[in-house]
Amino acid sequence: MSGFDSHSQTLSKLSEQHMSKVPEAELPKSVSFDPDTLNFDEQYKLLGGSVIPRPIALVTTIGPDGPNAAPFSFFNAIGMKPPMVMFSMSPNTKAIKDTLKNVQANSEFVVHIVSDALKEKMNICAVDYPSSVNEIERAGFRTVPGVKVTPPRIADCPAQFECRLIQILTLGEVPYYVVIGEVVYFHFHSEIVNSRHHIDYVKLDPIGRLSGAGAYTRITDHFKMLIPPLNEAP
Ligand SMILES: Cc1cc2nc3c(=O)[nH]c(=O)nc-3n(C[C@H](O)[C@H](O)[C@H](O)COP(=O)(O)O)c2cc1C
Repeated sequence: MSGFDSHSQTLSKLSEQHMSKVPEAELPKSVSFDPDTLNFDEQYKLLGGSVIPRPIALVTTIGPDGPNAAPFSFFNAIGMKPPMVMFSMSPNTKAIKDTLKNVQANSEFVVHIVSDALKEKMNICAVDYPSSVNEIERAGFRTVPGVKVTPPRIADCPAQFECRLIQILTLGEVPYYVVIGEVVYFHFHSEIVNSRHHIDYVKLDPIGRLSGAGAYTRITDHFKMLIPPLNEAP
């Protein structure tokens, strides 16, 4: 037996010892799937349907065909020092989406948070136009130059992050292209950020992606819950 196998057996035993001793009949009924037995659509429905609501990055880039904008909901913040974000792209009719082509070409992009007021304009940017079409103009967005990057910023968006490429990961069979970038300049509509750098999420008013074609959500309900200190935790 290899060292790895015996280590794994020890962990299995440990896990078994700590499993709650509740009769199965008292637990919620569950259904489980081995992803190896599922096709792309089935995997997408299970994963994309559960990891919700997903934030949406409206990403602007520039390349030889001009400026480009497209929304991506496989998107999140990664961490700070430096501030970092990621979004992930899969092929559609284009093996390489214009956003990816442009990021590969000039390593710069701007991530915008989409507020409820901008949802229809964002949706225009998702149309599978030929590369020559400027979705920003088609959608009727107003643009301003970046401070540190060349792609245009959409002035209408409440939060705009100028980004420089750190790395593109190519993952899976599809494949997915995961773009990781450093935020090199932050811009906000002035009423949504206070002097202590807190963002007012009600004023930001972001939309999020739910599962199924065309389903979205807004922040219409929110609550506060602090982590209990160790001496008060069960
Ligand atoms: C809300 C929303 C979220 C989307 N999320 C993604 C995503 O995470 N990854 C992706 O590859 N495409 C996503 N799309 C589709 C792209 O926006 C679409 O393919 C777009 O035309 C790509 O444009 P481009 O070729 O100009 O880069 C999303 C579309 C919408 C409306």
